Amino acid sequence: MQKHMQTRHFLTLNDLSADELNIIIQRAIELKKIRSEVRLHKTLEGKVLGMIFEKSSTRTRVSFEAGIAQLGGSGLFLSSNDTQLGRGEPIEDSARVISSMVDIVMIRTYAHQSIQTFAEYSKVPIINALSDDYHPCQLLADIQTYTEHRGNPQGKTVVWVGDGNNMCHSYINAARLCDFTLHIACPKGYEPNAELMAANADRIRLFHNTEEAVKGADWVVTDTWASMGQEEEKKIREDAFAAFQVNEELMQLANKDAIFMHCLPAYRGLEISDTIMDSPCSVVWDEAENRLHAQKALMEFLLGAIT
Ligand code: CP
Ligand code: NVA
Repeated sequence: MQKHMQTRHFLTLNDLSADELNIIIQRAIELKKIRSEVRLHKTLEGKVLGMIFEKSSTRTRVSFEAGIAQLGGSGLFLSSNDTQLGRGEPIEDSARVISSMVDIVMIRTYAHQSIQTFAEYSKVPIINALSDDYHPCQLLADIQTYTEHRGNPQGKTVVWVGDGNNMCHSYINAARLCDFTLHIACPKGYEPNAELMAANADRIRLFHNTEEAVKGADWVVTDTWASMGQEEEKKIREDAFAAFQVNEELMQLANKDAIFMHCLPAYRGLEISDTIMDSPCSVVWDEAENRLHAQKALMEFLLGAIT
């Protein structure tokens, strides 16, 4: 059985070195400037991006589809409902077929293992556009956003408030790659993956209250309390996370110039207070826009257009 081990994939942030991450972030910032100046940047002319979605999306779909078009290529939206993937065609077979026809593939799905299997049998680069365990594309945008607003995150204190979910796991990976300290404030029973925490114990501190965690914060981040696939737990989670809202009182305990991020979609009045998204410390709209620029840089990187 032929496997394609040499192709570069982006399944988690650990697929990049710190230097490579820096190249992608710098290029993302450059691509943003190029676009603002309405300059052409068709570095991926004729390339086709396959976009496999098993979960909903606004930002990820729009940023990838617009991004590949702006680079001179085209995106092919593949909903699992309308492809044979949704009817049980094995991932290995789908990967071989789809990757024989397109140049790069992004996948949003449930089990992280599905993306790993797809990558193992793919001839072309695979991008994790969110799994139950990781959301590394969002971290590219978040790191770009911090860099633009405050400079290099190295040595800073980042505070994750909320569920120990896919986003939190990617922040743990980012802490190592970017060399920052990560405070995680979550209710008991909602901690991140224990193995991942143990492997990064030297740069993580776990808290079960928000006030202690947010002291000294340069960057505060949260996410929905109920991720996609956890809809039936929504009510239980609202109770469990009631004391873990990011609001004005909490942000006042952070450093004076601390900034607030949220990958969105946000649920105002739950994980964030009604007004914080539009408060001066919030950079969530830049963060959302940066998905476009960061993923364009990522696609160029994976396809060898930048090195
Ligand atoms: N942040 C993010 O991935 O948003 P979507 O679910 O809208 O793609
Ligand atoms: N943790 C959220 C992120 C959404 C972009 C989820 O997985 O639904």
